[in-house]
Amino acid sequence: MEATRLTAFSHGAGCACKLGPDELAEIVGPLADHPAYSSPNLVVGIGTADDAGVWQLDSNQRLVQTVDFFTPIVDDPFDWGRIAAANALSDIYAMGGSPITALQIVAWPRNGLAFSTLAEVLRGGAEVMKFSGTTIIGGHSIDDPEPKYGFAVTGLVGIPITNAEARIGDRLVLTKPLGTGIITTAIKHGDCPPDLAARAVRVMVELNAGAVQPMLAVGVNAATDVTGFGLLGHLREMVLASKVEAIIDSEAVPTIGNLRDLLDAGHFSGGSRRNLASVRPFLRAPLPDESTLNILADAQTSGGLLISVDDDRAEALVAALNNGSAETAVVVGEIAAGEPSIAFN
Ligand code: CO
Ligand code: CO
Ligand code: CO
Repeated sequence: MEATRLTAFSHGAGCACKLGPDELAEIVGPLADHPAYSSPNLVVGIGTADDAGVWQLDSNQRLVQTVDFFTPIVDDPFDWGRIAAANALSDIYAMGGSPITALQIVAWPRNGLAFSTLAEVLRGGAEVMKFSGTTIIGGHSIDDPEPKYGFAVTGLVGIPITNAEARIGDRLVLTKPLGTGIITTAIKHGDCPPDLAARAVRVMVELNAGAVQPMLAVGVNAATDVTGFGLLGHLREMVLASKVEAIIDSEAVPTIGNLRDLLDAGHFSGGSRRNLASVRPFLRAPLPDESTLNILADAQTSGGLLISVDDDRAEALVAALNNGSAETAVVVGEIAAGEPSIAFN
């Protein structure tokens, strides 16, 4: 009997089916001044396109909240559940916070897929939430021809690490390799080498929790997780919010295996294409080749953290990160003085 192909129910590939940064700016941007989007207790709102919202509870505690859900990006329901949970927690870790509670979001085709498959998805989500020390306290489900799964997560943070404090001279450190968008697109097309798919699942399931202690211990200036807008899209948000220029060493950026064959075979999602189109006016020549640009703009699911750290602390941070994490953290660029833009060396 052939196993159910969950990704066959997905019109897009994971985070890549989200609205693009330009589209969101057009829709949500005008609301930034609406009274519902502001409060004296609001520490981080929608203004700087940061990972999560932050709310002042008292003089030393802040609430950090985020939500993330998406369509199937792998065919195994347990893996999809684990990835969705790791991805939803990521924005809390990117702010330097600790998750405490989560609400589950479920859309499921009652007549198209077995409830036993959904049970596997939920089991995967529960496994990762338990591992992270987060309690699932409720949720909401709807009948939907396209399955979707994710969480709204609440955490606590002392001083949040935002994307708005990158400083001139900083080094940029990336904690996970890129390529999950290209690989999950190939999986959806039924055309991904199994070893590559397995590596991508391991990368996506890995929690960014392992980066929080090193960031807090070493002291960093800014951080964001690399998800649906790709490395270039999330870096753009950082340099805009921080009013600096970034220089990426494209050869130093790690990838999950060799992605060029998959790119040549056309496994590049519409969302990643929109990412690149949207960030292109922001890039400074000379540009790397088109395949490299595709990889740098690839929409990631449960990607790593992109951290901006003082030059003289970068080595200590990379050492601390690689001590506690299965994936390799590396320096991929630096922050320079200049108009907000992204250059390459
Ligand atoms: Co994020
Ligand atoms: Co998110
Ligand atoms: Co409800």
